Amino acid sequence: MGALDNKVAIVTGGAKGIGRAIAAGLAREGARIVIADLRGAESAAAAFADGVGLTVDVADEAAVQRMADETVEQCGSIDILVNNAGLYASLAMRPFDQIPLDEWRQVMDVNVASMFLTCRAVTPVMRAGGGGAIVNISSGTPFRGVPFLLHYVTSKGAIVAFTRALAKELGKDEIRVNCVAPGFTMSDGVKQHPEVVEKLRDASVSARTIQRDQEPEDVVGAVVYLAGSSASFVTGQTIVIDGGQYFH
Ligand SMILES: NC(=O)c1ccc[n+]([C@@H]2O[C@H](COP(=O)([O-])OP(=O)(O)OC[C@H]3O[C@@H](n4cnc5c(N)ncnc54)[C@H](O)[C@@H]3O)[C@@H](O)[C@H]2O)c1
Repeated sequence: MGALDNKVAIVTGGAKGIGRAIAAGLAREGARIVIADLRGAESAAAAFADGVGLTVDVADEAAVQRMADETVEQCGSIDILVNNAGLYASLAMRPFDQIPLDEWRQVMDVNVASMFLTCRAVTPVMRAGGGGAIVNISSGTPFRGVPFLLHYVTSKGAIVAFTRALAKELGKDEIRVNCVAPGFTMSDGVKQHPEVVEKLRDASVSARTIQRDQEPEDVVGAVVYLAGSSASFVTGQTIVIDGGQYFH
């Protein structure tokens, strides 16, 4: 028996990196997994019993609605939504006045508007099912005021505010909304960018209380906890997971 038996969980950006580790953690507790990703959703979903893979751009309104509809059609409900998809390691670090406006807008679309769209699409289903749990993936960067990624850091700060305000709106529906903020994590996306690893890895490790690399698996326990009934009285919160780099 798992803590999430009979629960249906959508993980956006779950085909790789932190999202894939979260999907595996939710599956270990018995949840049925829906991977919603731009690429690789079906092959990633095949790793899970009855896993469903949906090719979705989370910044696309119609595609997100289809994601919710197809999940209900194939799985019957939506109990858990993990908003993990986001742009990070592919973004060049540069002074704020050198960020092109179209890149700024793309980051806001993929990292923030996506959460508005996914939450708007799944909440009617969660309400009809008597409740649900939403976990949004922010980052430690807004707490530390990390420079040279102003669009990214702003988007991740917005997610904390989004989480709090939406939690207030949805409490009466038994839908909890929480947030997890990882530190610099050796995800697939990060490892694909050696220049990012070189710039941030050692500096991050030495700034931590627990001085080692952060791996995607480090984020999983908090998400599984927030998704399950052990956290039934926890909402609107943000848990920073960074080996004690920033005390929130
Ligand atoms: N890696 C880090 O250091 C770190 C730290 C804090 C927070 N985060 C956050 O964690 C989340 C995952 O990051 P990661 O490092 O594991 O990334 P990753 O690049 O390893 O994986 C991201 C996944 O999201 C998918 N994706 C991207 N845009 C999408 C879109 N528009 N629609 C659907 N899917 C999309 C990608 O295809 C990919 O499978 C992001 O929100 C990121 O901001 C990462």
